Amino acid sequence: MGAGISAESGIPTFRGAGGLWRNFKPEDLATPEAFARDPKLVWEWYDWRRGLIAAAEPNAGHCALARSERAHPNFTLITQNVDDLHERAGSRNILKVHGDIWIQRCVVCGSERQERNTPLEEVPPRCGCGALERPGVVWFGEPLPPDIWAAAEHAAMEAEAFLLIGTSAVVYPAAGLAAAAKRAGAMILEINVADTPASSWVDYSLRGPAAEILPAILV
Ligand code: OAD
Repeated sequence: MGAGISAESGIPTFRGAGGLWRNFKPEDLATPEAFARDPKLVWEWYDWRRGLIAAAEPNAGHCALARSERAHPNFTLITQNVDDLHERAGSRNILKVHGDIWIQRCVVCGSERQERNTPLEEVPPRCGCGALERPGVVWFGEPLPPDIWAAAEHAAMEAEAFLLIGTSAVVYPAAGLAAAAKRAGAMILEINVADTPASSWVDYSLRGPAAEILPAILV
């Protein structure tokens, strides 16, 4: 699952129209190096995205996935999205492999807290210990949270069907999960408004917005 599912809730995708913020690409901002160089700039980007997410509502695609989870006991939702629209739609069995935009983590003492104020009162925000906080998300070059990633790999290996929804399928290791699921025997169905590198090898591709296709195909 990727940013495309939240596009129809008004949250720009990373590599689509509106994905650039002040002309920066995600790879220019979502890195430990960018944060070390200019934590205020990086936090301003996250603060902007937090504002969009707070104002957004889950769409029919998020809701269809939540209904599907209730109907199928072994349903697992693996997402690269750091927003909370799946949770707000009612999904519960969610593996957020790229973290959570509402979590802030101290770069020195490591303590984490959930902070939902938007806009933030102080940019960059600080921990009670006085050190800088960073967003509780995974940046380029960083490892994925090991337990969550292991659970995602396990679910992919066990899956009979794997829906690859609204992702450009270019950011690894997340992009490798669908291929691993296919090798383990799953049927792969891609849902996207455009072709991706995965389109050539998935079993089925449906072209169109996730918010239209998911309610039509999921029970
Ligand atoms: P991208 O922005 O790379 O890709 C979004 C995908 O959604 C594209 O393939 C679009 O064609 C598709 N799309 C757009 N609107 C859609 C719609 N309404 N319905 C269905 N599909 C639609 O987003 P991700 O693949 O999620 O990581 O990006 C992966 C990672 O790159 C992100 O998690 C983030 C980013 O940099 C980090 O920050 C580490």
